[in-house]
Amino acid sequence: MGKIAQDNEIDLAVALLMGGGLVSFPTETVYGLGGNALSDNAVADIYAAKGRPSFNPLIVHVSSIDTAKKYVQWDERAQILAEKFWPGSLTMVLPRKADCELSLLASAGMDSVAIRIPAHPLALALLEKSGLPLAAPSANKSGRISPTCAQHVTDEFDDELMVLDGGQCPVGIESTIVDLTATPATILRHGKIISEDLEKYIEIGEYNSDVIKASGMLKSHYAPNASLRLDADKVEEGEALLAFGKPLSGVGIIENLSESENMEEAAANLFRMLRLLDAVKPKAIAVMKIPNHGLGIAINDRLQRAAAPRE
Ligand code: TXA
Ligand code: MG
Repeated sequence: MGKIAQDNEIDLAVALLMGGGLVSFPTETVYGLGGNALSDNAVADIYAAKGRPSFNPLIVHVSSIDTAKKYVQWDERAQILAEKFWPGSLTMVLPRKADCELSLLASAGMDSVAIRIPAHPLALALLEKSGLPLAAPSANKSGRISPTCAQHVTDEFDDELMVLDGGQCPVGIESTIVDLTATPATILRHGKIISEDLEKYIEIGEYNSDVIKASGMLKSHYAPNASLRLDADKVEEGEALLAFGKPLSGVGIIENLSESENMEEAAANLFRMLRLLDAVKPKAIAVMKIPNHGLGIAINDRLQRAAAPRE
């Protein structure tokens, strides 16, 4: 068992998080790699650190039901489950509120947020002292298994990442995820809290992996209404431009992912800028070529999905 973090370490972690940095912290399930969920830049750093080839939405951690209600559309089912299972290893997927301040990148551009109150004193201390919602996926590199002690995290990440040591995670598997964006609710990921536990309080739709996967795929791929034209080297009449680097000339409506061709800045801006351009209802959105390395791989993955023909 590792050494348990001291007060001064918690204060340092809080300062790092408030300054936009990342901290790995224990929850009762697994260690998370946390950053300010209000900041597109902090969230982009999380994706970069994990080395994911695509954007998978992240779980947002909060310290109270009232805070959760600031960001997501609450309903009676959410209230009952929160009262019974929070703090604890149940994550609820709920629709984002119209004025939701959470980073769209944390939602991978979708209209929903996965949210929970963790049951671990160190996680709660960070949430309460920083006053921030924290986006935190499991603190492992993409494709590796989730860490259940501080050593697992330090083994995988470089020495610069601060890891708050809270010893062994008592649950040791990731939280159960229940999707409340539809009725009946469905379980998207199984964990310590099982279907029967939830069914005491709300209706859970029959588990059908094909249907869940299919609808999950559809929902996770927010596509703009406007069609996307990738690798554009000129802009057509009526098109808006999503630029990267020096913008193409002759454009009226333009958002620039990153003038300095910084991949993390581009990732941080991606979903917000797609929505801004889409809201103008252009004939199409021309997207300049984005190099396929680092976070560029995830950005291109997302753009290709958004550009794919629809039914
Ligand atoms: O126990 C846990 O949940 C840990 C600790 C750190 O809280 N976190 C964790 O995060 O396992 P992560 O990123 O490794 O897994 C999050 C899962 C992903 O499979 C993602 O697809 C799903 O949650 N998810 C996140 N937001 C979602 C959304 N809006 N709709 C559907 N699924 C979502
Ligand atoms: Mg994970």
